[in-house]
Amino acid sequence: MARDKIALIGSGQIGGTLAHLIGLKELGDVVMFDIAEGVPQGKALDIAQSSPVDGFDAHYTGANSYEALDNAKVCIVTAGVPRKPGMSRDDLLSINLKVMEQVGAGIKKYAPDAFVICITNPLDAMVWALQKASGLPHKKVVGMAGVLDSARFRYFLADEFNVSVEDVTAFVLGGHGDTMVPLVKYSTVAGIPLPDLVKMGWTSQARLDEIVDRTRNGGAEIVNLLKTGSAFYAPAASAIAMAESYLKDKKRVLPCAAYLNGEYSVKDMYVGVPVVIGAKGVERVVEIELAGKDREAFDKSVGAVQGLVDACKKIAPDLL
Ligand code: APR
Repeated sequence: MARDKIALIGSGQIGGTLAHLIGLKELGDVVMFDIAEGVPQGKALDIAQSSPVDGFDAHYTGANSYEALDNAKVCIVTAGVPRKPGMSRDDLLSINLKVMEQVGAGIKKYAPDAFVICITNPLDAMVWALQKASGLPHKKVVGMAGVLDSARFRYFLADEFNVSVEDVTAFVLGGHGDTMVPLVKYSTVAGIPLPDLVKMGWTSQARLDEIVDRTRNGGAEIVNLLKTGSAFYAPAASAIAMAESYLKDKKRVLPCAAYLNGEYSVKDMYVGVPVVIGAKGVERVVEIELAGKDREAFDKSVGAVQGLVDACKKIAPDLL
């Protein structure tokens, strides 16, 4: 059986980590694309040379021309500029919007049947722009945010409770960023919801609030430490989980920035919600009932995403 082709559009920090993980997990052959000459070629060769040591078979190429995307089954987009300390994800909007227009046109021409995962920030607005620019069906274009946000939440919770990360599940909704909505009542340790764990004396409500806050600012914490860029190991691992669910038709339920057309009372926008990812792309949006404070927080988050999408529409009216 021929191997699937996975195109990485953007071969920087996240792109390189994606390429390595794809090999280690034997998910397919990899094409690394970037505007920087030599970078995708160099990283592709370097990773390919690690394959005999780690014992995986995958073909790696690097390219500076969109033709290389031809027939890709999955495209993962990280092209653009990452944050520097003091910058919000939203500060990246106008630069990365132009990049999404170029990348969308490239995908439209060479990989119109691909499943496309966008990672470039500000995520919810960039995935919206990428879908418009590529013209691909909404269910084939998703954004990676929720898997990362919930992974951060799970990690902090596992650390707090001194239990395995594998036994902690977390549920997050909303836009990627400070307005994201971690739903504590749907987040569990071995099926026990967090509010019950507070009652059981495993932690206090105040500690839980601190963890939620740290999760919301999880990206900024790393930007401030690195000083020269943003997180890349966990974002790459998160996108790989989404790609794997598509390629293997696993139908995993993963929180992603997905297109909503009435679900959660949101129209024509990409917002973080749990979805089922299988061979058809986004096969189902999981719609839970939201009330009270959770609804308020979700609506606030949607409002923030709407503001970014409106800004995109002003800068690039042709995208509509
Ligand atoms: N087309 C293709 N590649 C581009 C373009 C473009 N128009 N513009 C920039 N790039 C490339 C850069 O040359 C660089 O190699 O995108 C790559 C981005 O890599 P990094 O700067 O290392 O950024 P990274 O940490 O990988 O993050 C990428 O993901 O999480 C988000 O906020 C983050 O938007 C950022 C993106």
